[in-house]
Amino acid sequence: MSGLPKVELHLHLEGAAPPAFIAGLAQEKHLDIAGIFDADGNYRYKDFWDFLKVYEAATSALQSPRDYQRLVSAVLEQSAASGVVYCETFLSPDFCGGRDLGAWREYLHAIREAADAAERDMGVTLRGIITCIRHFGPDKARETARCAADTAGEWIVGFGIAGDEKVGAPKDYRWAFDCAREAGLRLTAHAGEWGGPESVRDAVRDLEVERIGHGVRAIEDLALVDELAERGIVLEVCPGSNVALGLYPTFRDHPIAELDRRGVKVTISTDDPPFFHTTMAREYEELHKAFDWDDGQFRKIARQSLDAAFCDADTKAKIAKLLEA
Ligand code: HPA
Ligand code: ZN
Repeated sequence: MSGLPKVELHLHLEGAAPPAFIAGLAQEKHLDIAGIFDADGNYRYKDFWDFLKVYEAATSALQSPRDYQRLVSAVLEQSAASGVVYCETFLSPDFCGGRDLGAWREYLHAIREAADAAERDMGVTLRGIITCIRHFGPDKARETARCAADTAGEWIVGFGIAGDEKVGAPKDYRWAFDCAREAGLRLTAHAGEWGGPESVRDAVRDLEVERIGHGVRAIEDLALVDELAERGIVLEVCPGSNVALGLYPTFRDHPIAELDRRGVKVTISTDDPPFFHTTMAREYEELHKAFDWDDGQFRKIARQSLDAAFCDADTKAKIAKLLEA
């Protein structure tokens, strides 16, 4: 399965940092974050909320544009090894320069340099989706949206919201999403992972997003499933993440196959791969084992993912050729 060309739409950049990479940065900077690692050097956390804390502690080791440049190279090396040819990553001016526009531009410049080099050397194309962080609140989300609007273009292609789905409501972030939409950015929001089907309805209605991060708990309301299918709303499904965080006991219990059968446009991503001990190649393997999905099914999903990508038409045409190969 690692040979099939893949498109990944839901990847948190800091969440893709190999633990050894973060440990190395921490050592260089004399930061004591040893508590976030287990005896084997893997990230250690108890549940999703603890995961968010560990995530932010790990991110504290990333302190400069140069650190993010190295991060992007390390992450895309993993993506290329799994056969990923196109990837959209979530980035946050919250973590890159504390929402200061000048600082954010410097981070973005460094990130794009690493992405351009990876495209040249490894054949994987990267684009960015700026996310605000839900548990940082609506005021900070507005500042993040202003950074997003100011750097929207051919590389920053979308805007979204990550973080603790149980804090506040989508409508609290309406201003930020309107600001991003007016700047030409395409929209996605995390919902239907820790919130039930109503959280998916709220995100679609109040933020007018065309994609949902996760959204899998829509399966608990079949009228909603039909609506998602009819409206062509795309789910960025991360099965390994959901299993690792205990939403479903095993891949076989995951609703991705049922959502697909019911006509919802599903895509496959890793979310925060080292945290969840996964890669795109492993997601494919596990889905093949759980649902007997074959190459034809994976190729259908890759095309569906590219259709739902936020990049421009020229980039899509170039990637489409790679998917046909
Ligand atoms: N879910 C929600 N918020 C996040 C995640 C995630 O997997 N990773 C980083 N922020
Ligand atoms: Zn996510």
